[in-house]
Amino acid sequence: MSAKIDVFSLPIEKQFMRRLIKPDTWILNGFVEDCAAPHPHVVIGDDKAAVIDTTDLFYNVREYVEKIVTDKPLVTISTHSHGDHTANNYQFADCPQYMSEVCWEEIQQTRISRPDWAKGDYTPVIIKDGDIIDLGGRTLECIQFCGCHSDSSMVYLDSKYGCLFTGDEFEGGQVLIGTSVNRNNNNCIELYRDNLVALKKRVDGRATCICPPHNGSPLDILLLDYMIENCERIMAGHEGMKEIGSMSFGLNPQSYHNPPYTTNDEDIVDHSARLARYGEDGRRSEWMGTSIVYNAKRIFYKDVEGK
Ligand SMILES: [Fe+2]
Repeated sequence: MSAKIDVFSLPIEKQFMRRLIKPDTWILNGFVEDCAAPHPHVVIGDDKAAVIDTTDLFYNVREYVEKIVTDKPLVTISTHSHGDHTANNYQFADCPQYMSEVCWEEIQQTRISRPDWAKGDYTPVIIKDGDIIDLGGRTLECIQFCGCHSDSSMVYLDSKYGCLFTGDEFEGGQVLIGTSVNRNNNNCIELYRDNLVALKKRVDGRATCICPPHNGSPLDILLLDYMIENCERIMAGHEGMKEIGSMSFGLNPQSYHNPPYTTNDEDIVDHSARLARYGEDGRRSEWMGTSIVYNAKRIFYKDVEGK
């Protein structure tokens, strides 16, 4: 017996839980949310606090942060354009909101394709590779990631506590790099491997943990090496599994990705999830706690050149 909980009837402090993952560094869990939903991080400096990925949780993220987490003036930071990470930016319309130029461009496109994911009006602060966001006694270095999960991706390195905020380019459940094609039509395992190697070189020992919005944060920085190995195993011919979808997707009665509650695949409304689960070329490769969902026809640069 599963019942949906009316979260909106709860006081704001009961609509979320928060977990301290480093000093002055929180991850927020909307209560009770879809297990696949992203989680905002709150990074607190001496002068300001940053909400990294406002997410598409239905609840008032800003009210919770201001009431429960910090009294510092807020900024937001978007790891990439996808609506499940940026939909609540409208709640912070009067705050500085940092994002890449491609991220802003894609949010404008979302206003047309999926208006509920791009509500409100605000003017972002466009950042580029190498820029520094200063929170007072704590900075975030902006690191461009060459679009495997999303063309708009920017990774942020916390100078003080060694946290690497990766968005969806790195996470513990599955990194999705095969469910869409990037602008240069070159996303493939080889590019992802090269991105990770470049990221490792750039970070140069300054990070101790990875803080992704989905499926668990923080992760040990060692997983960066294991993910590189995962890519190299695929490139060496170790083919991933054909069953790539999360078996629980759509089964959570609290899910807002697949309402209403259903156990019938025909009723699942998120078409991309269906494609990911049943797509002929989709594969899942798991190695040492890392997992990549990729397209078996897009392994090497040579596979995608000229397509
Ligand atoms: Fe994403």
